[in-house]
Amino acid sequence: MKNLKSTFVFTAMLFSITILSAQVEKAPEIGDPAPEFIAQSTNGEINFPSDYGEHWKILFSHPKDFTPVCASEIYELAQAQNDFDKLDTKIVVMSTDNLAQHETWKAALEEINYKDRTPKKILFPIVSDNNLKVSKLYGMIHSAESLSHNIRGVYFIDPENTIRAIFFYPNEVGRDIDEIQRTLVSLQNHYANRNQVTPANWQLGDDVLIPVITKAEKDALSLPDSDLYQVAWFMTFLKETR
Ligand code: BEZ
Repeated sequence: MKNLKSTFVFTAMLFSITILSAQVEKAPEIGDPAPEFIAQSTNGEINFPSDYGEHWKILFSHPKDFTPVCASEIYELAQAQNDFDKLDTKIVVMSTDNLAQHETWKAALEEINYKDRTPKKILFPIVSDNNLKVSKLYGMIHSAESLSHNIRGVYFIDPENTIRAIFFYPNEVGRDIDEIQRTLVSLQNHYANRNQVTPANWQLGDDVLIPVITKAEKDALSLPDSDLYQVAWFMTFLKETR
């Protein structure tokens, strides 16, 4: 009888653990739809990503307001606003603090005169995630680092709301906005020209790679031979002529 009781207790525990783990969301990966969330931000309530229609979107997460590295990143993002506008890309920032703190932080950031540049207004929303809902939804809580603050994440989301790239940075390293724009431009190029990919250290204006394997595939692209060159049978470049 005692054995029967322990077996029952053990089975019930196993069942609860299975149910609980099934409820834990899988962190989104490249190729997954961007998880939807509704949250309060410095620009009012936002429904992400649907509020941003068919634009490209980049979601930046920050572990904490009034921290030096995060502050430098938001400052640089505000400075780069025009570049992101030209790339038809909407920036959404979130931080695991409350909205009142975000408002005060935003006002302070808009006053900073750094590297002799004119201070810029912060036009993108800063989402409040003090309940960690969005951080958990997007897999930004890396438990060995912190259970109460997210890590620095960058999610690139295409016009169909599919995640196309994810970067994670540690607390100690500020993000490189040029690298984020370089990745965005490469993703946009591939979105427009599915047969083009970009090599290591590629910059806008450089030749791109064509992952062509067979002659039939090459012919189907209808590209003039003079625009193509190979550095190995497995590396075909398309000259950048635009
Ligand atoms: C920072 O942004 O400076 C920072 C954020 C979290 C922990 C440590 C530093």
